[in-house]
Amino acid sequence: MRVALGVGGGIAAYKAAELARALMERGASVQVILTAAAEEFIRPLTFAALTNRKVITDLFGNRSADEVLASSVEHIRVAQETDVLVVAPATADLLAKFAQGLAGDFLTTFYLAFKGRTVLAPAMNTNMWEHPATQANIDTLSKRGHTILTPDSGPLACGTVGPGRLPDPVLIAEAVALIAHPRKDLDGETVLITAGPTQEAMDPVRFISNRSSGKMGYALAVAAARRGARVLLVSGPVNLSAPYGVELIQVRSALQMRDAVMSHLPESTIIIKSAAVADYYVSQPPQQKIKKTAARMGLELDPTPDILAEAGRSKGDRLLIGFAAETQNLVAEGRRKMETKNCDMVVANLVSQEGIGFESDHNQVTLVMRTGETIALPKASKADVADQIFDHAMTLRLALHAEQ
Ligand code: CTP
Repeated sequence: MRVALGVGGGIAAYKAAELARALMERGASVQVILTAAAEEFIRPLTFAALTNRKVITDLFGNRSADEVLASSVEHIRVAQETDVLVVAPATADLLAKFAQGLAGDFLTTFYLAFKGRTVLAPAMNTNMWEHPATQANIDTLSKRGHTILTPDSGPLACGTVGPGRLPDPVLIAEAVALIAHPRKDLDGETVLITAGPTQEAMDPVRFISNRSSGKMGYALAVAAARRGARVLLVSGPVNLSAPYGVELIQVRSALQMRDAVMSHLPESTIIIKSAAVADYYVSQPPQQKIKKTAARMGLELDPTPDILAEAGRSKGDRLLIGFAAETQNLVAEGRRKMETKNCDMVVANLVSQEGIGFESDHNQVTLVMRTGETIALPKASKADVADQIFDHAMTLRLALHAEQ
């Protein structure tokens, strides 16, 4: 993915350095373009060091006629070599210039010469953002088909509190990655994914939970969104931010997760249950905190509903994918869970191994398919594993349809 990162002159310009890095981490080559105002806030050298490329600065500035002539051709060349233009921070001034089609410097000239997808991440003072002139420009630019990321709310550099903050650079990078992703083979699908642990209250201050980080489920959500699906992510409590372009439904307990899954099941075409649901819960937790005594304490636990099995009973021809966290007999247990819970595929992983599974960024799984095959995938990042799960799921669906 070839990205041009336009940086406007606002206090959030320093965050564009983090964005450059987040884009590089997603495999992008990044050509940074600084406006003259941006150069007042951050030096080109920072970006040159991060991207291993010469940074493009203002078209006219203090240059000789030859240099100006060379760079006025350069903007056409760079525009042809770019897949996505992202502008962060997009200042009120830049938005107005883009909306009007003014072309007084390199970035605005580039904008006019560029025919690909554009992502704008506005950041400015709340009053400037809410001003009808800015909102009219936003309207024009969004009607032009650009992706506009809504600014975050919070304390601003000018002292006010309100909308105007640049969104998290990771979220901006993810929006770019989603737009630039070449494969949209999940277009038209609604993918329902569960992720993370559940927490089962023992009393108002304590809970029972497990070590699931939610990383696998979130990687599945990102992969599905990039490949064009509508994604509903039912998530237990995790330390991960909401992925871009995904509808996040936050739950805490197994019962809440069950309700969320069953209410969204009818609209889903693919359901993936990667959550580590608690198997037991306290059905009537006390209203008050349990007090410490010298005596031994027992805890009465009831089984939670098996959400996957419940989904299996009403799945129809939806593709249902479960997970199996095992410490032994991987394939046999995966197959047993597939049969008893009526899944089409079970993603089985050994959770006892160091460096994969719970809390890790990597995973090594075996896919147990309804068609009888088992496919052992090599150890890979959770992002890669997620993509492979979708590759095999799409092939499996074709095979299952052919069998009917
Ligand atoms: N699962 C579920 N609801 C539960 C328990 C598990 O939906 N109450 C789902 C998980 O999301 C996963 C699959 O069932 O997709 C298997 O979970 P796992 O913990 O491996 O197995 P269990 O069915 O709990 O069986 P066991 O603990 O005996 O291995």
